[in-house]
Amino acid sequence: MEQRRLPGLNREVSALGAGCWTIGGLAINRGVPIGWAGVDADAAFAGLVRAHDLGVTLYDTADVYGLGRSERLVGRLLGEVNRSRLTISSKVGYFAGTAAHPYQAAQIRRQFETTLDNLGTDYLDIYFLHVSDFGPGDRYLEEAVETVQQLKRRGLIRAIGMRAPHEFAREWATDLGHPRAAEAARFLTLLARVQPDVLTARYNLLSPIYAPDETDIFDLARDRGIGMLVKQVLGKGLLIGTHDPLAAPSFPSGDHRGQDHRFTAPALQAIQSGLSVLRQRFGPTRADLTRVALRYALQRDPAVAVLVGFRTSQQITSNLTCLGEPLSSDDIGAIGLTMSSVRDMLTASRPANPNSQQEHSA
Ligand SMILES: NC(=O)c1ccc[n+]([C@@H]2O[C@H](COP(=O)([O-])OP(=O)(O)OC[C@H]3O[C@@H](n4cnc5c(N)ncnc54)[C@H](OP(=O)(O)O)[C@@H]3O)[C@@H](O)[C@H]2O)c1
Repeated sequence: MEQRRLPGLNREVSALGAGCWTIGGLAINRGVPIGWAGVDADAAFAGLVRAHDLGVTLYDTADVYGLGRSERLVGRLLGEVNRSRLTISSKVGYFAGTAAHPYQAAQIRRQFETTLDNLGTDYLDIYFLHVSDFGPGDRYLEEAVETVQQLKRRGLIRAIGMRAPHEFAREWATDLGHPRAAEAARFLTLLARVQPDVLTARYNLLSPIYAPDETDIFDLARDRGIGMLVKQVLGKGLLIGTHDPLAAPSFPSGDHRGQDHRFTAPALQAIQSGLSVLRQRFGPTRADLTRVALRYALQRDPAVAVLVGFRTSQQITSNLTCLGEPLSSDDIGAIGLTMSSVRDMLTASRPANPNSQQEHSA
């Protein structure tokens, strides 16, 4: 397994990390579905063991993934292996419990204790502020930042994490006509206040290609010595053709994909049109597409680590053994061209008021 030194954490991690949102299974938080269907805890644990056997040293979970189930599965793994060799990240910010807000200091401390307990460890490598909602007028921002900084000063966490917007260029923040100006400006404000060591950002075949004079999230992180964990590189399975466009899936309550328009028939057909082109160029199998999706993310920046979600040992095995040769720059250009038209089709088919949380819309 390729190793990468993550800026901000200043530690080597496996280039591919295990994304453990999926293994939490079905869940609902504050009335919003946030989970994944079809998860069997033993199969998921076998996947974690397999990931470890194949050299994965980075595991990303959160208090809210399966409302603790994901953390407890990772904890089972930590009970059987050398914890000190692994990099474990978890998150806080969605689950309020009986508190007025998830970012009240006492609630963060409670969740942190529960997270350590679930994981059976006495420290975290990265602790993410999972959401950017800090209450009305950012009422809880100061205490949230102070609380995680205290945890860091006490040696209970090694790095503070924060998420980046799905689409971002620094220049948009001052371009008042840009549709994402407010989001970009908000992110820069939070970045200055939180001073994170690590960011997480979505990046996959459908991500926009930025203009040469735009400072995207990778440039920004590099300039500031911030580590980056890239997520949703398989587009929740959509980018490796797991769903038949002629039989759009339906999901039980508790699975967030039921609210994601990209799992509807028109969106699946648009994605399918792009994947057909990629299959002709790179090969017909799911492993061929997985190689393209993972390589595309890994080659975006040599300093980032890439998180991959899974439900079973079989998925982990195929994802970690399909990498093959790197993509050429011609390959990357052709992928960008093909998938940007898919992206346009998806944007056109998106409902005007999508009813989904920012976090869980991939
Ligand atoms: N910090 C944040 O705000 C944040 C937000 C989102 C995600 N993340 C992290 O990033 C990780 C990765 O993102 P993700 O899990 O949402 O998406 P992903 O890695 O793009 O997709 C994972 C899903 O793809 C399908 N899949 C994976 N391998 C497969 C294979 N070999 N064959 C067929 N299907 C396969 C599985 O879904 P099915 O089998 O169910 O189809 C799996 O659950 C998360 O687990 C989480 O740790 C962080």
